[in-house]
Amino acid sequence: VSPFLVDTFQRQHNYLRISLTERCNLRCFYCMPSEGVELSPNGNILTDDEVVRLAGLFVKNGVKKIRLTGGEPTVRKGLVDIVARLNELRQHGLESIGMTTNGIVLHRRLPDLVANGLTHLNISLDTLDPFKFEIMTRRMGHDAVLRAIDTALSSSLSSVKLNVVVIKGLNDAEVLDFVAMTKNKALSVRFIEFMPFTGNKWDKDKMVPSSELLARIVSRYPAVMKAPDELNDTARNYVIPGHLQSTATDSRWTNQSEQLNRDIWFSGRLMKRNKVCLFDPKEISLRDPMRLGATDSQLLQTIGRAVQGKREKHAGMEDIDTVTNRPMILIGASLRPG
Ligand code: 5AD
Ligand code: SF4
Repeated sequence: VSPFLVDTFQRQHNYLRISLTERCNLRCFYCMPSEGVELSPNGNILTDDEVVRLAGLFVKNGVKKIRLTGGEPTVRKGLVDIVARLNELRQHGLESIGMTTNGIVLHRRLPDLVANGLTHLNISLDTLDPFKFEIMTRRMGHDAVLRAIDTALSSSLSSVKLNVVVIKGLNDAEVLDFVAMTKNKALSVRFIEFMPFTGNKWDKDKMVPSSELLARIVSRYPAVMKAPDELNDTARNYVIPGHLQSTATDSRWTNQSEQLNRDIWFSGRLMKRNKVCLFDPKEISLRDPMRLGATDSQLLQTIGRAVQGKREKHAGMEDIDTVTNRPMILIGASLRPG
């Protein structure tokens, strides 16, 4: 086992999340302001070759799962080619290639992605109501997302999940409708707690804790049972007897002692800097040394230092620097054990 991705608490980092773009064709209010975010100059974004090089370095040192995110990864031009090149890393131990998408243009893109190696898909959809969709995302396209879900379900992907960010008074009354979808579709659903980022109007009264969601699920489905969880994931999986797929509650916010501090966020403008946890204001760069000609072993030293610098957990609200606490869309990549 390569020592570079093991931290001082013996946590082995084998899950890498890479953001391919800061752009998005939606404007979810909890993620960015209506005018969008200020985009980095194109030259700041990692090229396809740089993404593939870094991914290769991580995989050769123990990463088994890669997830592509954004912004919205499907708006990145070279996406299919990147997936095809990541797929070649299977010979070095990569086991899965996932993507988190809003599904808006997925219907057309999915066949190529699956043919080139995509294995896991998470689709973000917060509401089953087209009017609420427009309120939450400030864009049209609800029908396109529903169609993309069906396309995904009839593909050969090994996993299709829905991500639902729950906001009190907006979509929280739909939770049981989402759970009902897991009965006859090969679709798991994960409810995500609303997290605070600069400018996203977070307020704790709008955040529905996972514990409360679970109570609602239990009262509707008393036979619900605990299912095994992924290592180091804040998602807790449940199965309802007679349902095809599982339901999960993700306590990213209320359970801060867990995942957020296990992540290493190679972040800022696409791996320009690197945060030791989502809410850590300190950042280190991978992109800049790479462009200054760093060798793989020099890059590994930098990665190793970041991994070694991880604390056991973050301290919650006190840790949040309101200046550097950017929305997730502007965080470049993250690494976690699991
Ligand atoms: N709170 C919770 N989840 C968020 N996401 C983006 N911003 C937030 C937030 N403030 C989610 C998206 C998507 C995933 C990539 O991150 O809904 O499912
Ligand atoms: Fe786009 Fe996802 Fe942010 Fe919504 S949450 S604006 S889909 S990146």
